[in-house]
Amino acid sequence: MNLPSGFHFGASTSAYQIEGAAQEDGRLPSIWDEFAHKSGRIKDGRTGDVACDHYHRWREDVDLIHALGHNAYRFSIAWPRVIPQGRGAVNAKGLDFYDRLVDRLLEKGIAPYATLYHWDLPMGLHREGGWLNRDTCHAFADYAAVVAQRLGDRVYSYATFNEPRCSATVGYLEGRHAPGEMDQAKALQVAHHLMLAHGLGMQALRANTRTARLGVVLDVKPYHPADDSAASQQAAHNAYGVFNRWFMEPMFLGHYPQDIWDGYGAMVPAMQESDLVTICQPIDSLGINYYARGHVEHSAAKPFPHAADVRCATSSFTDMGWEIWPDGLREMLVRIHRDYRVPDIYIAENGAAMDDVLENGRVHDPVRRDYLQSHITAMAQARATGVPISAYLAWSLLDNYEWGHGYTRRFGLCYVDYPTQQRIPKDSALWLRDFIASQNARPYTR
Ligand code: FCB
Repeated sequence: MNLPSGFHFGASTSAYQIEGAAQEDGRLPSIWDEFAHKSGRIKDGRTGDVACDHYHRWREDVDLIHALGHNAYRFSIAWPRVIPQGRGAVNAKGLDFYDRLVDRLLEKGIAPYATLYHWDLPMGLHREGGWLNRDTCHAFADYAAVVAQRLGDRVYSYATFNEPRCSATVGYLEGRHAPGEMDQAKALQVAHHLMLAHGLGMQALRANTRTARLGVVLDVKPYHPADDSAASQQAAHNAYGVFNRWFMEPMFLGHYPQDIWDGYGAMVPAMQESDLVTICQPIDSLGINYYARGHVEHSAAKPFPHAADVRCATSSFTDMGWEIWPDGLREMLVRIHRDYRVPDIYIAENGAAMDDVLENGRVHDPVRRDYLQSHITAMAQARATGVPISAYLAWSLLDNYEWGHGYTRRFGLCYVDYPTQQRIPKDSALWLRDFIASQNARPYTR
């Protein structure tokens, strides 16, 4: 595939989905603890209290990453461990955990990719309005500074946020994620504040690092019209704008997309004059999460962007009901490069939930293996056309707590037998290990 030997291959995780130890060493609840415990909206009614018990098993998990031949690992830092109330007192034990993890990764030749916010807002801040309150943006910047002062350039790549679109839309419009609200205007205000916090967080990271690469992780999706009508083509254009351009244009061009702004009408967010300048910070690297394409038709009954999902009869779908569409990854990489010219892009998440079964100590998952292979191929095609791409990180290292689905969806390269917490590399993990070796990827050194 002609990838350079410095190319990074690995997997991603996030704190609430794997760590467990929810009440240990000074950690306080986040909006996800609250939502999972109280809402009755989690499919199996379960929480991240124990999850994969990674907080206690992190050493063996790093050994596992190493054994799988990865030279990169993306994890997230739990704000409620590091600054349990969200602002104010720093919890040394929380920082110590990530300090040890990072050192151990470096010892094993694995580049640490750290995300500062993967959806776990401390409840202390949520009680003061959370992401609807502009002050939370400044609390985030303070937290970013605390982390960067401690971990510094030992972290290879920092991302301020994971999927601000998902936090805002699924948490505040669709109500399926914490904090479970359903209000378009609030969702747009939250999205604005998440982007403002990204800008302030970038400044804080910049001031406290020298060589670490800084950026953000966005979920991206191409939208294709399900029929030839002009109305459906417009719906696909609008849906693309709502999903992708709403976030990328402020961050990389310094303005909101005017057509989408007009489409939202009175629901657009309040902002201050300098916000867009703050939001549009130079980044070193953009992480993208890609899972599926959107396939839509015009629907006058739906609010803006007037788009309704259409299930493509000839496609295959994962256990999440997500359409398997590898070429969408190539399409998005090429388009993002064309439109924004960010200096570097990496795949921060890509993977498939499947109905895996453990049989005689093995998990045969040929569909996931094909998913990984076809998406890596699509990535390499984009790279061959000149898109600067530096890493491929699969979602996820382990089966884990899949948010509103609880433990009913398995995305891992490794199967987790929850009663024993045993990790079993699936066939796809072994395939990926051999593929990485075939590409001569070298261990990471600083
Ligand atoms: C992404 C999230 C990640 C995981 C995958 C399946 O949206 O970033 O935590 O849930 O989806």
